[in-house]
Amino acid sequence: MDQKFVIGNWKMNTIAAEARLLSQAIADGMGIEDSVTVVVCPPFPYLSLVGEILKGHRVALGAQNLYPEKKGPFTGEVSPTMLLDLGCQYVILGHSDRRHKLGESDTFINQKVRVALAAGLNAILCVGETLEQRKADQTKKVLDQQLFQGLDGLSPATLTHLSIAYEPVWAIGSSGHHATPQQAQEAHAVIRHRFGQMFGERSAQTLVIHYGGSVNPENADAFLRRPGVDGILIGGDSLNAEQFLAIVKAGIAQAQSLVEAA
Ligand code: PGA
Repeated sequence: MDQKFVIGNWKMNTIAAEARLLSQAIADGMGIEDSVTVVVCPPFPYLSLVGEILKGHRVALGAQNLYPEKKGPFTGEVSPTMLLDLGCQYVILGHSDRRHKLGESDTFINQKVRVALAAGLNAILCVGETLEQRKADQTKKVLDQQLFQGLDGLSPATLTHLSIAYEPVWAIGSSGHHATPQQAQEAHAVIRHRFGQMFGERSAQTLVIHYGGSVNPENADAFLRRPGVDGILIGGDSLNAEQFLAIVKAGIAQAQSLVEAA
């Protein structure tokens, strides 16, 4: 896969003025290079504002969640139809914040993945183990289960719009732990293997798998140069345009070196 991905998950950060400044700085800093797909995922209230600023720039708009129904009595929720209406092309689903702080189950996440793909959104399914699970040598088991249940019943025709983000919960944010590029590579291989068992070897080879967890401009290159690491999902450093653009630059360099090596 020559294409690299850099995705910013702003989580529950920014107010309107900050969202405007941040997205403008990212839009202005993007060149014409298209070997990296860049996506920013602001909070729901600022999707429209950020979408307007990104128009005409090589930065796609993504959401951080959706509710798996088109419309109806779901107070406080946001439908895939609404996301499309606002210009979203991507949606992050099953992020560990939602799994662990809001109690989302694999079954519920599976409904979201199905509905997002059926609506034509690019779904980014996040998977990853906790520190306790890793220490108990359960990483593979956890990834297998999250994939098996999270991807249950997907139509093979929609798989090209699906990507997976491996985000070890223990390496996210300021947890004090960092995953090594080797650990990321190993987990990506587990994910690709399981995906191959579910959907066939060809689909597994083209599956895009991102890594997320304390990625910054200093370590982005080391992750992106690992075989099987196709993209980066960034939390903290996506809130700083300079840092975020530096990671995009690392993605461009890696994409170029892949083309040269081919
Ligand atoms: P982080 O977050 O880059 O702040 O570790 C990653 C994420 O949660 O997507």
